[in-house]
Amino acid sequence: MTKVLMVASEAEPFAKSGGLGDVLGALPAALAAQGHIVATVLPRYRCIPLADLKRVYENLAIWLGGTAWRTDVYSRLERGVEVFLIDCPPLYDREGLYGAGGDDYPDNAVRFAVLARGALEIVRRLFRPQIVHCHDWQAALVGPYMRHTLALDPTFLGIRLVLTIHNLGYQGLFPAKVMPELGLDKKLFQPDALEFWGQVNFLKGGIVFADAITTVSRAYAREIQTPEFGHGLDGLLRARSAVLTGILNGADYSQWNPETDPFIAARYSAEDLAGKRACKRDLLAECGFDPDDDRPVIGMVSRLAAQKGFDLLCEAAEDLARENLYLVILGAGDPYYEDRLRHLAAEHPRTVAVRIAFDNGFAHKVEAGSDMFLMPSRYEPCGLNQIYSLRYGTVPIVRATGGLDDTVDEMTGFKFADYSATALLEAVRRALATYRDREAWQAMMVRGMKKDYSWDASAREYAALYQRLLG
Ligand code: ADP
Ligand code: GLC
Repeated sequence: MTKVLMVASEAEPFAKSGGLGDVLGALPAALAAQGHIVATVLPRYRCIPLADLKRVYENLAIWLGGTAWRTDVYSRLERGVEVFLIDCPPLYDREGLYGAGGDDYPDNAVRFAVLARGALEIVRRLFRPQIVHCHDWQAALVGPYMRHTLALDPTFLGIRLVLTIHNLGYQGLFPAKVMPELGLDKKLFQPDALEFWGQVNFLKGGIVFADAITTVSRAYAREIQTPEFGHGLDGLLRARSAVLTGILNGADYSQWNPETDPFIAARYSAEDLAGKRACKRDLLAECGFDPDDDRPVIGMVSRLAAQKGFDLLCEAAEDLARENLYLVILGAGDPYYEDRLRHLAAEHPRTVAVRIAFDNGFAHKVEAGSDMFLMPSRYEPCGLNQIYSLRYGTVPIVRATGGLDDTVDEMTGFKFADYSATALLEAVRRALATYRDREAWQAMMVRGMKKDYSWDASAREYAALYQRLLG
C-alpha cells in the first residue's frame, strides 16, 4: 500500500480540457481501488462550484518569494480519492482553465507556481504522502521547490517524486524575469536546471528534479528521446533515460462503454450490435444528414491544435469529400483551424458536418454513431479517443505514432506512417474497401470491442514504479 499525492491542473469530473482530465479522473481512482491511499491537488477554477466542497483549511499562505498568496483549501471525496482544491480567486476564478479567447492568461507562471507550491503546503499540513506524482508542466515546479527551495525542510525528506509527461509540446515557457516572482533562486536559471534558450522552462525543471519520469505510451517514451519529437528536450531526456519509462493510459470504461453510456441513442455490445445502427441514425439526424443513408461515417473529436493533424485533413479534404462517406467533426481550440473547418463544412454541406464546441455529450454520440474514427496526429503521446473508439466498434484510422501506434493494429484498425495527405487518403480508402465487405468489417469491429484497456493494469504499473522508488 502506497500513499500518493497527485498534482495536476485538471481532473474529471472537476475540470477537463483534454485527455489529462480523463487520466486524472481515472488513475487515482484505479489506484485507490487497489488499496493505495491517493489524494489529488487541483486549482479551484470557476467551473467547480464551492457549494459541492468542504473547506478543510482556512487562510493558507502560499509564499512565492516575498509574496504570500492567500488561499483556502477545499476538498471532496471522489471515487475513493480525496481531491484538494486550492481556492485563490484572483488566480483561478476565471472563465477558462488556461486562457480565454484563444490566448493564454499572461500570469500562468504564477498561477501554476501557486499550484505546485500549494501542493507542498498540503503535504505539510493535510496529507503526507510517500510519493508526490506531478503531471505536465503545470505541476512541474514541485520538483525545484521541493528539492531546491525547501531542500532543508525535513518534511520532505524521503518523499519520492514522479513526473508524468502527457505532452512534451507544452512545456510552460516564460520570460526569465518571472524567476524572482516565483520565488526561485537565480542559481536555478542555468542550462542544467530551468533555463531553456533564455527562458524559464517549467517542464524542464520537473524533468531535472524527478526521481522517475514517465510518459503515456512506450512508443512516445522512445520518440521523445529523438530530435524529431523532443521539442528541444530530447538531449536532457536521453541523459535521464535510466529513469524514463512509458506506461500506457487506460480507458475509463465506467464513462466510455456503449453498454451503459447514458449519452447515446441506444445501448449495444459486441454480442448485440443493433443499437449501434440507432446511434448512427441519431448522429446523422443531428448533423442534418439523411438518417437512413448507409454511407460510412468518419468521426473526429479533438482539440483543434497543430499536433492533431488538421493541416493534413484540410489538405486531403477535397479528395475525401469526393468519396462516398460522411465526415463529422467535433472540435474546439486554435481559431485558425476552427475557421478552416467551418469553411470545409460550408463547401461540402452534404458530406461534412462540423461542430465547433467542447461538448462531452456530443463526443459520446460521435464515438457511438460513427463507423470509423480518424486521428491523423503529427504526434500523439497516448491518445484516448482511439481507445474509446475500439470499445464502441468504431474502427480507428490513425497515423502510426506514439500511443496510436501502440494501441491500434491491422486486426483492429488502419494505420498510415507518412505524415502526408496521400498516406491519409490511402488509409481511408483501405478502410472504405473493407467497409464494403460487411462480414470482414463486423469481424474487425468485434475484435476492437473485445480489447481491454482498462485502468487496472496501468495502475499496477504505476504502483510497481512507486514500490521500486521506495525501495
Ligand atoms: P488530448 O489530451 O491531446 O486532447 P486525448 O485523445 O488523450 O487527446 O484526449 C482527449 C479527450 O478530450 C477525450 O476524452 C475527448 O473525448 C475529449 N475532447 C477533445 N475535444 C473535445 C471536444 N471538442 N468536445 C468534447 N470532448 C472533447
Ligand atoms: C495529452 C496527449 C494525449 C494523451 C493525454 C493523456 O494531452 O496529447 O495523447 O492521451 O495527454 O495522457
